Amino acid sequence: MTLPPTAPLPMPLQTLLWVRRPTELMEWCRDRYGVAFTIKLPPWRISLFSDPDSIRTIFAAKSDDMHAGGVNQVVRVLVGSSSVLLLDGPEHMRHRKLLMPSFHGERMRHYGATMADVTRRSIATWPRDAPFALHPFTQDITLQVILRTVFGAEEGAQVTALSAQIKRMLAGAESRMAFVPMIYLSMHPEIETRVPWRWTLRNRDRTDALLFAQIAARRADRKAGERKDVLSMLLQARDEEGEGLTDQELRDELMTALSAGHETTATSLAWAFERILSHPGIHARLREEVRAIGGADAEPERIAALPYLDATIKEVMRLRPVLPVVGRVLQKPYRLAGYDLPAGAAVGACIYLAQRNPDVYDEPNAFRPERWIGVQPDPTTWLPFGGGIRRCIGAQFALYEMKIVLATILSSCDLELAQATPARVVRRAITFWPEGGTRVRMRRPVHAVS
Ligand code: HEM
Repeated sequence: MTLPPTAPLPMPLQTLLWVRRPTELMEWCRDRYGVAFTIKLPPWRISLFSDPDSIRTIFAAKSDDMHAGGVNQVVRVLVGSSSVLLLDGPEHMRHRKLLMPSFHGERMRHYGATMADVTRRSIATWPRDAPFALHPFTQDITLQVILRTVFGAEEGAQVTALSAQIKRMLAGAESRMAFVPMIYLSMHPEIETRVPWRWTLRNRDRTDALLFAQIAARRADRKAGERKDVLSMLLQARDEEGEGLTDQELRDELMTALSAGHETTATSLAWAFERILSHPGIHARLREEVRAIGGADAEPERIAALPYLDATIKEVMRLRPVLPVVGRVLQKPYRLAGYDLPAGAAVGACIYLAQRNPDVYDEPNAFRPERWIGVQPDPTTWLPFGGGIRRCIGAQFALYEMKIVLATILSSCDLELAQATPARVVRRAITFWPEGGTRVRMRRPVHAVS
């Protein structure tokens, strides 16, 4: 049994490159070794695969044959041990079944108006005729959206407190170097109460107090059954034995939705503007498509059905996936890309390289939304949301939100880029971010926003 080849560099250097030059490292390994290679990252050697067959095998694996909980330990300190991200086997499936209905396509109709409203309010605060980074604003938009859809719009002061607290908590995880201590902490949970983690834990505990208060208030609310927000739905969800989620499980799933759901979508939106604004023809075509149905005032359902907008988002997520890899740990031996791998080996579907595979994509590095018109993505070659029994629960929610936010911004204001393109891909903890956060200038609002 042998692992695929690895770059002839010691583990600390590979880790440093994974943190500071991840795309260059992956491309170098692909050019030298092909579709399968191994990266040395403590505590594992993780073998990455970018060919459709290996990715199909990884995504087809049963919950008991490949685990993801061990790989996802890196976010445990934030989301807690009973988060769906950290579970495997039957318990993982139980949580997934309870969570899925809240984020299903059907629910989107209730969330569209909130998404457009939050975006309009944000635009009203943007500087005029001066360069600014768009990413902090997309972060705020996606945080407000997830807070309102999770807890319901009318929570006022409590949602404001939670919003400030979550921003404070996640700020610590923004640097690219945060990846290293996160891995270290996942390997040594016993050091979590020591300096310098204490500050992080204090913030997490303050956030928890607010989350538990929300859970208690909703449990006591007799009208919770009539509400449409995620927390109310989760409180009513029952598994096959008639059991619901405990308060701790609810806390962990709420934290998962709040953290997994907002930063990823915000960064994808920042990438979308970086790509769209650096292609004037695509920008103009999108604006025309949105204007033709009435601009930002159009029904969210009509916006979500626009074909060129849909194709553009797919192309942004193909070329600029915010998560480059999804990992699994083998629970039995597997053969992938001709390598016999032992139980215990860590493997990853390499989203970044699979989506640039020249055998699949014509001109793989070109930004060409047209390639998606009338084309359904193949899950082994377009996988920004991962796949199989662990595919992102919020994928439909995120795609819908990106469409509403993009359409609202594109039709309400006149933006241009205020930076050189293409922006460099930079790691922020575990996500890939456009360096500088997509700097733009707003010439003028197209029409008044309230
Ligand atoms: C552009 C936005 C997003 C991207 C790119 C993204 C990407 C991903 C990826 C790659 C995975 C891992 C899948 C795998 O292991 O195969 C994942 C899992 C997950 N995501 Fe997302 N996500 C996004 C938005 C969201 C949103 C909005 C939510 C919730 C509101 C969410 C909740 C989750 C959850 C709960 C999981 C764990 C699923 C499981 O382990 O069974 N994500 N996401």
